[in-house]
Amino acid sequence: MSASIRPADLHSIDEETADSTGPAWRWLPELARGHRFLRWHSSVVVTRYADCRAVLSDRRFGNGLRAEIGAMPDIDPQFVERRRRSLLLEEGERHTRLRRLAIPALRPRNFERFRPAMAQVMNDLVDRVARRGRCDAVVDLCNPVPISVICWVLGVPRREAEFFAEVAEASTALFSGDPGTVPAAMAATEKIDSYIGDLIERRRGKPGQDLITDLIAAAEAEGGSVTISEVMTVITSLIVGGTDTTRNQLAIALHCFAERPEDWERLRRQPELVPNAVEEVVRYAPTAYAMKRVTNEDVELDGLLLPEGTPVIVMSTLANRDGSVFPDPDRFDIERTSGHPHMGFGWGLRSCVGSVLARAELSEALTVLSRRLTGLTLDGETLWSRPDTIQGPVTLPLRFTAV
Ligand code: HEM
Repeated sequence: MSASIRPADLHSIDEETADSTGPAWRWLPELARGHRFLRWHSSVVVTRYADCRAVLSDRRFGNGLRAEIGAMPDIDPQFVERRRRSLLLEEGERHTRLRRLAIPALRPRNFERFRPAMAQVMNDLVDRVARRGRCDAVVDLCNPVPISVICWVLGVPRREAEFFAEVAEASTALFSGDPGTVPAAMAATEKIDSYIGDLIERRRGKPGQDLITDLIAAAEAEGGSVTISEVMTVITSLIVGGTDTTRNQLAIALHCFAERPEDWERLRRQPELVPNAVEEVVRYAPTAYAMKRVTNEDVELDGLLLPEGTPVIVMSTLANRDGSVFPDPDRFDIERTSGHPHMGFGWGLRSCVGSVLARAELSEALTVLSRRLTGLTLDGETLWSRPDTIQGPVTLPLRFTAV
């Protein structure tokens, strides 16, 4: 690319197309073909795998969600400050500290013990719809999963699921940038902070076999330099970061398989394929289809000049379809082996800290579902959410025979 290209010179994604034609992974790869950078509203879109990786590893690109929340009109500055302390929104050294605390507690070894509970959650949900032979998978099979699992992982009673679900929903809604979501998000922040604060106090007195106990241990291993308020921040970020993403990705997986009965049947016959199938779903149709950044200073990306404050979208949907990295990229192939990690869980400085848990949840869910729901097919129109930070079905009618 020659020097001095400006964002305004880039090809713009037609806004009507973007808002009306279903999930991004269906229409965007075709539309973006041949474009290294695009424009979408006021943002610059990065499309290629190598460029996406470079941006996600570069500190000159700050957190776009953080910037958006700060710019919302009439928002209480104290609330903004408090929300910004979250792992999802924090930056710089404080962000690194929070990740250092979270990552050891979220390693694979700590989740193996929860796998039977994850399978149990899914089996209970299937039991409820088995006789009907049809359901709305979003409501009946997917929405309850992450919150039920987080109850197990935090070692709190299942009756708290509704409370966590409300908090997660109100907090995630804020990421849409709609000022109308602020009052509910503020109330949710109050409630969850106080609940988690109490829980930490209780676990400090009486350790358990749960993630809170692991996080307190990780904080203590840092020699007292990590505060309890940081532990609290990490736990709340996990509830918020792990709910909408997981339930949407599971619903997307079911949609992919309802359209591909032979793959579904293969999963039932060969459950050892499930972990690879999970990777393929997240590559092919990532719920976190776009990651928002903003330039902290003037940046030049191989001839493209991005002035300080330019919103940038790292389009994982497109990076995951980069043919130089994933051969035959538009083909859904549950046996794909590429050697390159996809970007459905992000990359670099802010990559998903919960990916181990998410992968375990999706694998357990698909193992149970493919074993118990045979003849899975679509049973009406799937309605999709509008493109926001994440995307997925709002309604997914399915038909099946349950065993
Ligand atoms: C299928 C499910 C999931 C998907 C697709 C997903 C995807 C992602 C992606 C793409 C990012 C990077 C965002 C960015 O760079 O702007 C991210 C970050 C994050 N995820 Fe996940 N995630 C999932 C599940 C989870 C779970 C289960 C947890 C918690 C237990 C979690 C916690 C987080 C947190 C705290 C961050 C922020 C990390 C940071 O900013 O340093 N996620 N996730």
